Amino acid sequence: VVDIKNGPSQGLDFLGNTLFLNGWVRTLRIQSSVTFIEINDGSCLSNMQCVIDSEAEGYDQVESGLITTGASIWVQGVVVESKGSKQKVELKVNKIVLVGKSDPSFPIQKKRASREFLRTKAHLRARTNTFGAVARVRNTLAYATHKFFQDNGFVWVSSPIITASDCEGAGEQFCVTTLIPSSHDTADSPIDAIPKTNDRLVDWSQDFFGKPAFLTVSGQLNAETYATALSDVYTFGPTFRAENSNTSRHLAEFWMIEPELAFADLNDDMACATAYLQFVGVADKDFVQITYTEAVDLLSRAKKKFEFPVKWGSDLQSEHERYITEEAFNGSPDIKAFYMRQNDDGKTVAAMDMLVPGIGELVGGSQREERLEYLEARLDDLKLNKDAYWWYLDLRRYGSVPHAGFGLGFERLVQFATGMDNIRDVIPFPRTPGSAEF
Ligand code: 4AD
Ligand code: MG
Repeated sequence: VVDIKNGPSQGLDFLGNTLFLNGWVRTLRIQSSVTFIEINDGSCLSNMQCVIDSEAEGYDQVESGLITTGASIWVQGVVVESKGSKQKVELKVNKIVLVGKSDPSFPIQKKRASREFLRTKAHLRARTNTFGAVARVRNTLAYATHKFFQDNGFVWVSSPIITASDCEGAGEQFCVTTLIPSSHDTADSPIDAIPKTNDRLVDWSQDFFGKPAFLTVSGQLNAETYATALSDVYTFGPTFRAENSNTSRHLAEFWMIEPELAFADLNDDMACATAYLQFVGVADKDFVQITYTEAVDLLSRAKKKFEFPVKWGSDLQSEHERYITEEAFNGSPDIKAFYMRQNDDGKTVAAMDMLVPGIGELVGGSQREERLEYLEARLDDLKLNKDAYWWYLDLRRYGSVPHAGFGLGFERLVQFATGMDNIRDVIPFPRTPGSAEF
């Protein structure tokens, strides 16, 4: 609609055409005899410059100052050649209608607002070029994600948001409970009904699910159940982590893409992740592959002084990942979750991380432990409650197969594709420690 300016002729082939546009006023310049209004309808990045003088029907609303930045308007006009240097065409308006006026307090004025400021206005920031563009890139990547997996015969599985299991075993879950009126019989607001730890402990056996329930940290375990029935599946949905990391790469609520491949090993898993990243257009060549041991060696040989020492057996820190992706080349796996398949050396697991410059870990994946005795031993080692995983263990009891999968943080992908510095700026409504507004 507004995008006619982006064609090869920059709009010149629309000269003389009548256009009707709905949109929001981005900027407004009133001169003695003529007013310039830039409007945008959200369909693209370019604004349409509308030129309005006293001949236009509805001009009185412009003259009286009723139409301001942020207002929604409807215009009808003819495409003419622009005298300005910034665009080839503009709209000579013959009718303008104010649809919704904008209070002068509208916070997104022409001067460039900082990203920090815009985070406090998350309900309005999509009206800026940057956030409008990011929303469209996000949409395109989501579409491309489904396209890639659908074209390759994967079945999309909806994994649950509420679950009793902790897939990553890292204890970073948010708890879900019903609202119980606390000291009062009736609660005036939901806030009054939230159980207070000292006041009234939750009796889980009496609670909604009859036991503690949490927001999921990963849909993987559920995806595995479907992979061991339908072969290749993927999940794509929100996941939650109560990790208190105030960084530019962590959200408390983020979307994850989790393919799970049956009759597959770690190499198939890596090939799938690479093909996916190439398909969505963020990688054009193959990833360099190095083992964890090689990564540790490389880091120990580095001249650079690290804050955290590099030691075989411990997780790599972001400074190490940064060194590997930005100064050396590529990545290494982080430390082993209970479900990762043990390698023949008895010390390492068949896991991988894919690291990219500027972001660090984009993908974490592994071949899963498909051997019942190994998995049980591993759960025991980690002192995890085997009973709670009875259904997961059943998959190893009834027709177990080698299988592998990975998780890709969708916001990190959008960050990588757009170059946005902070992950809070690539999801419409970021959830981070201390912040769940909007
Ligand atoms: O490496 P993670 O923790 O792996 C899993 O959850 C596996 N169960 C996935 C699987 O094999 N199906 O998380 C996977 C990816 C990370 O590489 C990262 O991109 C993203 O999820 N991620 C986050 N993104 C934003 N904010 C956070 N707090 C994130 N934590 C992980
Ligand atoms: Mg990881």
